[in-house]
Amino acid sequence: MGTTDRMISPSVLTRPVKGRYIVEHSNGREWLVRRLKVVLAGGVVGVLLGGYMTPTWALEPGDPERGKVVYNQYCYKCHGVKGDGNGEVGGVSFPPPANFTDPALWKNRPDSFFIDVITNGYDYGKMPPWWDVISKQEIQDVFAYIKTFRKK
Ligand code: HEC
Repeated sequence: MGTTDRMISPSVLTRPVKGRYIVEHSNGREWLVRRLKVVLAGGVVGVLLGGYMTPTWALEPGDPERGKVVYNQYCYKCHGVKGDGNGEVGGVSFPPPANFTDPALWKNRPDSFFIDVITNGYDYGKMPPWWDVISKQEIQDVFAYIKTFRKK
């Protein structure tokens, strides 16, 4: 269908709306295509934002096996492969990176505290934020993994 199909005879013109004439019988298929484009664009934006906006209830419980992979990529340099705070960077950092084996670190602190520290960082970024590096699910997973370091 070309534009010539839309040659308008005066009879299909209705009253001017905001100075323009509107066509009474708009093409249903065009309307549908336009609608679909809007829906698709929304979907793409939705998927892009999805990583950041996943609500906590949509996450699986943290999986320490998956968390170990994340930890050994991003956290071990400071917190140490064994979670004791003795990573290669650990020795030179003040304050030292948290020692996850120390029961005192875990005492009286809810899970939400640790999730927040991992997500947003802590102590002016000496503990860096990770919200823009790993997904919310990976934060749950890595948290599940660092809990396994805790000594009774
Ligand atoms: C650049 C070094 C560095 C990296 C990388 C790092 N951390 Fe930290 N982290 C620190 C330091 C330093 C502290 C202690 C900050 C303080 O005590 O003031 C800390 C503290 C913490 C704490 C405890 C906060 C508290 O005192 O209760 C948690 C939990 C934590 N890190 C988790 C992680 C996880 C999970 C990762 C990987 C995704 C990670 N960190 C990567 C340096 C790092």
